[in-house]
Amino acid sequence: MTPTDPAARAAELRATLNEANHRYHVLDRPTISDREYDLAFRELNELEAAHPELVTDDSPTQRVGAPTEGGFPSVRHEVPMLSLGNAFGADELREFDTRVRRGLGRGLDDPPVTYVCELKIDGLAISLRYEGRRFVRVATRGDGTTGEDVTANLRTVRAIPLSLHEDPPGDRLEVRGEVYMPRGAFASLNEQLEKEGRPLYANARNTTAGTVRQKDPKVTASRRLSVWTYQLVGAHGLSTHSESLALLESLGFPVNPHVRRVEGIEAVIDFTTEWADARKDLDYETDGIVIKVDALEEQQQLGFVSRAPRWATAYKFPAEQVTTKLEAIEVYVGRTGAMTPVAHVTPVSVGGTTVRNATLHNIDEIRRKDLRVGDTVVLQRAGDVIPEVVSAVLDARDGSETIWEMPAACPVCGTQALREEPEVVTRCPNPYCPAQRIGGLLHFSGRGGLDIDGLGFKIMMQLVERELVKEPADIFRLDAEALEGLDRLARKSADNLAQAINNARHRPLSHILNGLGIRHVGEQTAIDLAAWLATELSTTEGETDADWTRRVADRLRDASVEELTGVYGIGLVVAEGIVRFFGDAHTRDTLHRLIEAGVSAEAPAPGARNRAEGPLSGKTLVVTGTLPGLSRSEAEDAIRAAGGHAASSVSAKTDYLVAGDKAGSKLSRAEQLGVLVLDEDAFRKLIEEKT
Ligand code: IVH
Repeated sequence: MTPTDPAARAAELRATLNEANHRYHVLDRPTISDREYDLAFRELNELEAAHPELVTDDSPTQRVGAPTEGGFPSVRHEVPMLSLGNAFGADELREFDTRVRRGLGRGLDDPPVTYVCELKIDGLAISLRYEGRRFVRVATRGDGTTGEDVTANLRTVRAIPLSLHEDPPGDRLEVRGEVYMPRGAFASLNEQLEKEGRPLYANARNTTAGTVRQKDPKVTASRRLSVWTYQLVGAHGLSTHSESLALLESLGFPVNPHVRRVEGIEAVIDFTTEWADARKDLDYETDGIVIKVDALEEQQQLGFVSRAPRWATAYKFPAEQVTTKLEAIEVYVGRTGAMTPVAHVTPVSVGGTTVRNATLHNIDEIRRKDLRVGDTVVLQRAGDVIPEVVSAVLDARDGSETIWEMPAACPVCGTQALREEPEVVTRCPNPYCPAQRIGGLLHFSGRGGLDIDGLGFKIMMQLVERELVKEPADIFRLDAEALEGLDRLARKSADNLAQAINNARHRPLSHILNGLGIRHVGEQTAIDLAAWLATELSTTEGETDADWTRRVADRLRDASVEELTGVYGIGLVVAEGIVRFFGDAHTRDTLHRLIEAGVSAEAPAPGARNRAEGPLSGKTLVVTGTLPGLSRSEAEDAIRAAGGHAASSVSAKTDYLVAGDKAGSKLSRAEQLGVLVLDEDAFRKLIEEKT
């Protein structure tokens, strides 16, 4: 053991090991043998054990930490993590280009736009934070505004540099990318499970999601996840996206090598054609090509629409098709009572997933496609969507196939099923049907709702059957003892579940609203509704979350259809659904009992308000008339993305009126009240100036 100074030796070993990690996991060009690595690792471990004061955060020995207790803390993204618009086929890519050129004011004779083409990695979006050179945190995308802190788990991913190779620009750096499980790692994981006689995972992406949220970082460490980074947040004095990728690379981040900077959309289309097949040889799943305008100034100029940038799009590879056998059709009853026929097929691999079931939507669809039990069928899976049965292979019929009929009664409770033409859906009308109840409760406790880890179908079914749980509030009355009495639940798991339930008492308002299962209210509408409530009901000094939650419940009970249709993102049908839901005495009791059981909504901090932070934080704007380059909803999206509130009527509380052509009564009202009036240009400046 050469240098005598332990501190110097430890630093040397750390540098050697971090460098070896980078060469192996990022550059794919290892320079030292596994044995040399192991020896150096062991020496560092021993040194640190003898001199605990020498342990640093970025030491490779610190990648695996202790198991997390009680879930993952929420992280608000300072800059929201957006999604991308889609383009299917070459024509839609050309349309994208046309929109970009129009947005940049470029005519047909002007030079083509410079784009960067990247592979779209089919994993999980993450956001990495560095302070100085030091890695400090990683969060999942979550709903785009709020994600989860999964640092302890992702610290085990060796492709993530714990310390950067150079000083980054600025003292804080945020980098986004995708964590994924290489095909090889996925296959060997499933082989291992098979040997142990345990159920297999269906695809790498979901396995990645599960792995990222493991309680014990040791498990994550054993799964061999990897990362590609593809976005630097903020310009940092650079002028193009390609420069930012080069910078990421020199800082030590893994940047996918298959990136191409091209002139014009035809070259983009060439890139997509080249990769349609070539992607199958990669050691990771891709589901498309991401196309980004290279010049950051042009990105700024194009801005965004809704939750997606106008300067980028995701080209989706054509859906993969395979044939298999339709073995049986079974009916599933969902939380709204809808009876959905589901196809059980001979397991087959398509688009990286082993498919056993596929939705058939409804009986009309089965008739239209003339699908029969026993048929050989064409199955397709495009990207993330549920696999679909496309057609039957008529030539393969031998006469043994049978025509399927929708059962006349609910398969769960036996109640006569109803189908009201022209509705295509057959429903179980019994609101007390256990299937509906279980479906509703699972929706409430599931990922988009209160997110109670470990409360799956099998456990919920027992809880409902044993009448331990009849409604959401009952979940919060369960303790470890009650849970231990259930089948398949060992002591330790019962404790964990009790803990998970306890942790779920406090959740973002949008999650609670989504979990309630209000007709027509999905995750996005729940976010919009929560944002509105946060603006309507600012929290007061000393107010508890339970008190605030009570005020929220009252406010929803009193909300009118007119008022709700004025909320961004909510139309008439949705508003009526909300009013009906909260007007119902049963709902009021449910909410009351939830609050009594200790459930409360996270009151967004004043000013934060469950929405993006930005130049318009705390400002209320109204859009009226026809703007030359933006539709009303685009302008409202822009307001929200900049942190502002887009209101529907002008009042003394309005900060700005954005007025276009034919602005009528709102304009005169604004003038009366002395509200500042902006045209589109002034509005754009207001948003862009400070971002
Ligand atoms: S750029 C605003 N680049 O695709 C820019 N995304 O549908 C947003 N993704 O949430 C992301 N590979 O999870 C970008 N090379 C790539 C990507 C990529 C995969 C994912 C990412 C994002 C989703 C957008």
